[in-house]
Amino acid sequence: MQKQFIGGVMPGSIIAQDVYGSDGVLLIKKGSIFREQYIPRFIDAGVSEIYVDEFGRMTPETVNNIRRSLNIQDVIHEKTRTHAQNQIKKTMMKFKSVTNTDIQKISDLVQDMIEQLLDKKDFVFALSQLRSVDDYTYQHSVNVGVLALIIGIDLDLSPEQLKHLGMGAILHDIGKIVIPEEILKKPAKLTSEEFREVKRHTEYGYDILIQTDIPDESAQIALYHHEKFDGTGYTMGLRNTKIPLFARIVSVADVYDAMSNDRVYQRRSAPDKVFREITHLGDKHFDMHIMETFAKHINIYPTGTGIILNSGHRGIVLYQNKLYPESPIVRVFLPKDNDYKRLYFDLDLSLNTKWFITETF
Ligand SMILES: [Fe+2]
Repeated sequence: MQKQFIGGVMPGSIIAQDVYGSDGVLLIKKGSIFREQYIPRFIDAGVSEIYVDEFGRMTPETVNNIRRSLNIQDVIHEKTRTHAQNQIKKTMMKFKSVTNTDIQKISDLVQDMIEQLLDKKDFVFALSQLRSVDDYTYQHSVNVGVLALIIGIDLDLSPEQLKHLGMGAILHDIGKIVIPEEILKKPAKLTSEEFREVKRHTEYGYDILIQTDIPDESAQIALYHHEKFDGTGYTMGLRNTKIPLFARIVSVADVYDAMSNDRVYQRRSAPDKVFREITHLGDKHFDMHIMETFAKHINIYPTGTGIILNSGHRGIVLYQNKLYPESPIVRVFLPKDNDYKRLYFDLDLSLNTKWFITETF
């Protein structure tokens, strides 16, 4: 139980002691749920502080169960995503070779993705929260494909360009099939020699792809996706618009998705932190026009994100506010074992500016 200034009480908090006005009239009983509309009445009655119960802490299982029940909407169909992941897995499992049949299958999948994305018109990308480290590479490949297409659509690329962009984006890391697994999955820091070898996946990838029927502009994505806008990247140290457009697009998508996920050696960062980090890298690493285009479609607090408010309350994101991406609609939790009939309440942070998100989990 804590005493709180009336203006700072969170709607939905449990009132812990009967509240009386200055004339001694009972205003509200202990155990009631505090609502924002009570504030003027309380102030009129001369009440400036009340006692409220503190909120409990959620267990990770409860949070995960709620996340699952939220039915997080993907921008492409689950079936297409799974097909694409399986296809890229099959392609990458084959030792050092990619056939034209693989390329054709990937091309068909990209076509499906483009149609689904164009159908949505107004999409924000929400990362699936539940991913396994084992399938990281395949999930990452597909995500980079989807993100690159989202940027490409916004940049008004032609249908053919989109197709080429999507194929190259999905296959951007194909060169990794040449690199020994013990290096790729090494949980410790790489030696400089190992790091040099990993960096060569760009050349290996390009060499593999140019043996196939894939268009050159798609294959170039494998070669140039680690170039940085200021010229400090690899493989060639290209700078500015010397880096092909598709590679500039994929580099943003690649870095964003990599940071957003658990990797062998690093825990994922929350979407809002990734967003801040990637914006911070800004024009050193990326083409700012592409970054800005990308930012429009990124959901910094995707549905299912665990949040901690400035009041200390914990909750989970339910929906986004399109106009106010920093202020989603959240479900704030009450203690699991409270005697009251509510376990949570929903709050639109754009309408309640006293509360804002300070942390995510
Ligand atoms: Fe790469």
